Amino acid sequence: MHCYGKIFIVIFLDTKMDMKLIILGPPGSGKGTVSEKLSKKFKLFHLSAGEILREEVDKKTQLGKEIRLFIDKGNLVPAKLVVELVKLEIGNKKDYLLDGFPRSLDQAKEIKSLDIDAAIYLDLPEKAIIERLSERRLDPVTGSTYHLKYLPPPEKIRKRLILRKDDRPQIIKQRLKVYQQETKPVIGYYRKKGLLRKVDAGGSPKEVYEKVERIVKQLSA
Ligand code: AP5
Ligand code: MG
Repeated sequence: MHCYGKIFIVIFLDTKMDMKLIILGPPGSGKGTVSEKLSKKFKLFHLSAGEILREEVDKKTQLGKEIRLFIDKGNLVPAKLVVELVKLEIGNKKDYLLDGFPRSLDQAKEIKSLDIDAAIYLDLPEKAIIERLSERRLDPVTGSTYHLKYLPPPEKIRKRLILRKDDRPQIIKQRLKVYQQETKPVIGYYRKKGLLRKVDAGGSPKEVYEKVERIVKQLSA
């Protein structure tokens, strides 16, 4: 009788690594789109500051009502509040991707002790930002983000897609102003620390993602 030894073949489709990353960039530069893929690929906890805040608004709590006043006007939510929420979410996690946080020098200083591996900065000119935000649509069921032209949604879910309230032209303008005043200095802060990795975010979603993925692979090599 022949006895065949069992052969186990394990295929690692995704990679697991301990890494603390920040994704910086102006509104609409693709932070969420890149983070969604990157966190799946490298099994990183994806923490979107905007998302946490919007969830609080949806709960209609007193805190949510206060947060809404800032988001709907395109202004930053007070740092103390955001930092507290973010720290709570991070907890003791060893690897994560901070999307849209920190976005002021105060916030960056608050997380000095986190031992960040890199701050990836998605650079995009204003004209492209406006084009991306005005045609962005959200799926309230899955939380996925689409773009009517560049990342079209499947036909069957089109009807349920919504426009984010802060994607109205006047509010986009205010968000860009706040970005220039409050968030731009954060780029210099991480550059000085030698942690900044700048990416031209002007290509297709696939091209931009691949550039960012290359950086993450280099960091972990
Ligand atoms: P937040 O939700 O973080 O908004 P944001 O920074 O303005 O950025 P967006 O989410 O609008 O854009 P994104 O860069 O994620 O781009 P996306 O991938 O969606 O914050 C919202 C609000 O919350 C703030 O205004 C503030 O009030 C508050 N807040 C959040 N964080 C805070 C903090 N730390 N402190 C205080 N307040 C805070 O892409 C955009 C569109 O382009 C999509 O349609 C997408 O499909 C498309 N797209 C993506 N990549 C490409 C590509 N390469 N080519 C073509 N289209 C693309
Ligand atoms: Mg986003």
